[in-house]
Amino acid sequence: MIPEKPYIIEFSQIGNPEIGYLSVAEPSGFVPFEIRRVYWSYYTPHHITRGRHAHHKLEQVLVAVSGIVTVTVEQVRGVSKDFVLNQPNLGLYLPPKTWHVMEFSHNGVLMSLASMEYDESDYIRDYEQFFEMTE
Ligand code: TYD
Repeated sequence: MIPEKPYIIEFSQIGNPEIGYLSVAEPSGFVPFEIRRVYWSYYTPHHITRGRHAHHKLEQVLVAVSGIVTVTVEQVRGVSKDFVLNQPNLGLYLPPKTWHVMEFSHNGVLMSLASMEYDESDYIRDYEQFFEMTE
């Protein structure tokens, strides 16, 4: 079953303050799909917004591995909601058909764990088209 709504995943933090921490995404863990692709975005100036699209089928978990990334999400016939990724052990699950816009702090690095390989035909880049979609 594909989760219906975006939600925050709190990954385990392994370590302690003296040596630091690591978090892990593995098949038996918190990510509700098989990871087929990992990509990361960085050096995005604060005044630029990224994303501004939804996907037909892709599921993703976004992790701000450095800095702070604010993700504004909207589902078909839904209201928009902000999620602030401000700790490297937090992930944001995005189901398909979720419009998302990201804003980065100056040191923000956003990693995405994705359920499919890159496919431009899976993108919905036109907000009007997204708005007209049925669930
Ligand atoms: P896009 O997903 O639109 O980035 P963002 O939502 O962060 O603004 O992708 C930006 C460009 O990178 C676009 O031309 C497609 C390309 N791209 C790939 O070639 N492979 C990938 O896995 C991804 C995510 C993007």
